[in-house]
Amino acid sequence: MEVPASVRQRSAQLREQLDWHNYRYYALDDPQITDAEYDRLLRELQDLEREYPDLVTPDSPTQRVGTTPLGSFIQVRHDLPMLSLDNAFTDQEIHDFDRRVREQLDATAAIQYAAEPKLDGLAVSLRYEDGLLVRGATRGDGSVGEDITHNVRTIPSVPLRLQGGDYPRLLEVRGEVFMPKRGFAELNAQALQRGEKLFANPRNAAAGSLRQLDSRITASRPLEIFCYAVGQVEDGELPDLHSAILARLKTWGLRVCSELNVVNGAAGCLEYYRAMLDRRDGLPYEIDGVVYKVDRLEQQRSLGFVARAPRWAIAHKFPAQEVLTQVLAIQVQVGRTGALTPVARLEPVSVGGVTVTNATLHNADEIRRKDVRVGDTVFVRRAGDVIPEVVKVLLESRPIDAQAFVMPERCPVCGSQVIRPEGEAVSRCVGGLICSAQRKEAIRHFASRRALDIEGLGDKLVDQLVEQELIHDPADLYHLDVKTLAKLERMGEKSAAKLAQALDRSRSTTLARFLYALGVRGVGEATAQTLAAHFGTLKALMAADEERLQKIPDIGPVVAAQIHAFFAEAHNQEVIERLQQAGIRWPDSEPQAQGIGQLPLAQKTFVLTGTLTSMSRDQAKARLQSLGAKVSGSVSAKTSYVVAGSDPGSKRDKARELGVPVLSEAEWLELLAGAEKTSGPA
Ligand code: IVH
Repeated sequence: MEVPASVRQRSAQLREQLDWHNYRYYALDDPQITDAEYDRLLRELQDLEREYPDLVTPDSPTQRVGTTPLGSFIQVRHDLPMLSLDNAFTDQEIHDFDRRVREQLDATAAIQYAAEPKLDGLAVSLRYEDGLLVRGATRGDGSVGEDITHNVRTIPSVPLRLQGGDYPRLLEVRGEVFMPKRGFAELNAQALQRGEKLFANPRNAAAGSLRQLDSRITASRPLEIFCYAVGQVEDGELPDLHSAILARLKTWGLRVCSELNVVNGAAGCLEYYRAMLDRRDGLPYEIDGVVYKVDRLEQQRSLGFVARAPRWAIAHKFPAQEVLTQVLAIQVQVGRTGALTPVARLEPVSVGGVTVTNATLHNADEIRRKDVRVGDTVFVRRAGDVIPEVVKVLLESRPIDAQAFVMPERCPVCGSQVIRPEGEAVSRCVGGLICSAQRKEAIRHFASRRALDIEGLGDKLVDQLVEQELIHDPADLYHLDVKTLAKLERMGEKSAAKLAQALDRSRSTTLARFLYALGVRGVGEATAQTLAAHFGTLKALMAADEERLQKIPDIGPVVAAQIHAFFAEAHNQEVIERLQQAGIRWPDSEPQAQGIGQLPLAQKTFVLTGTLTSMSRDQAKARLQSLGAKVSGSVSAKTSYVVAGSDPGSKRDKARELGVPVLSEAEWLELLAGAEKTSGPA
């Protein structure tokens, strides 16, 4: 079909715009449009290309979804070998490294090093010819790797075409493809729910995702890249400092880690190491150390290589996040919804600086797959705040009397039957609120920060209250008096009075918080907000049938059934009634069907920048949107507020320039709390 000139022009324009916004987003980490606006442009281009397939170019931003599977991988020779790095573990080894460098260079002044995180992923080579991505390859053995062009094309932060025009005709870039922590956790959570095998760590997940013959699978995985070196370069000039080369790569749209620093001498390296070690848990991706590279290329050239590693660079490794220890016992823990989670009790061991004594084994299928037995020596892994996990068994060390685990038929806490519904990976105690473990968890959840936020009601206190039968359900909390509380272990008059005050404060809440606090299966914070906004009153929600519930966006048949069953249960109705009698109240509101315009933050536009500590970006967005606010990716005179987390980007400066108010995270949380108080549905 003949493509009209206007369509051809428009598609070229869209492609250029999309490339530009990709560059702003990935390389500069400073988007100028919202995700929704980006999606709209992309959809427009997709529609045009569908109508006129002749328009499709290999570098079109639409060409990232993956294609039909390959039969096998093709081998690729690296003209310039992909080197590896020597490892160092101690300060002394870094002093030795620096001394060798200085001696060989005859240097008197301190050496300038580029210091970078050592990313825990998979090394790849990207080849650009005339600015077009023509090949992606794995490192392989350093000389020969595998062609994975079809897969790297699906990674959103890998540009299919370079920005600008001053790039070399041939540019081979090297970098690490990795899976960020959150993406990894989500991928494993999905696998767990489907009863599938889990990935041991983000590195394996990245490697497994990249070595797929079917690029549609790769496309579905949350992979990212940071570029950290150049390989072959022809017909073009590059700066003479490694740090400057990386800065140049960034101008071409290639993503470079923002943690790069230029430091002086061994002392500068060690300072960087300690700073990164401190920040390790807070980074959104895993790093297993840092890398120091002599910054001057001229010095690099005169230092040269030994075997497969350069003399001008070294990896300084962090303490391992995976260590060996022994399984002393396997016990099951009963959660709020009765789910039985097997937990390995371990010989205490330090993992990345934290002592670990327990690790989750997830469910019976996972234990069987990993074949973990009591007495086994296992690899245990922790990263950041996540619950430590047993990764795998060291079979060579298995004692002959190692005991296999069997899921108990009765709940270890209340003795009720344990069932495992067809097709589910999880076994559950059917005891409900008869089970004191479930009662404790339900009360803890009720009191938690995002629910009714009862300060001072810690885990140990809930244990005592339930075990001494002082309370059976959340409603009983409101009948406790200071005298009773003061008699509990580790409580005095003062903390008892404080807790009583906190209980009193918690009486005034919002419908959304109350719904979340009830702990209905399938109703997290976001769903609670949706329900509150949709119905406006508890009465209306409790009267809704499954069909009505299913009509609400984001509520499927399973959750609809769970919500309906919860409110149909006589015991739950009674607890809700008693909670209201105890004075729990919230402002009712008109259902949102009447229009978002009534929400307290309607007509306000927020821009988020920097890292928030109290919640993820997505949660922050959802909270704002549930109050009627718009969230935009860029600051303009129309922006109402800019919320600046830690390390805010240029958006904060822009806001100041335009006179837009900038809120700290704490100020913003206060504003949210105020808005939520004035609106029932928030
Ligand atoms: S530079 C000649 N920089 O570590 C130097 N490598 O142990 C070649 N890696 O295969 C590598 N982060 O997969 C370099 N900032 C970084 C790195 C890094 C991770 C990986 C890379 C390499 C391995 C060597």
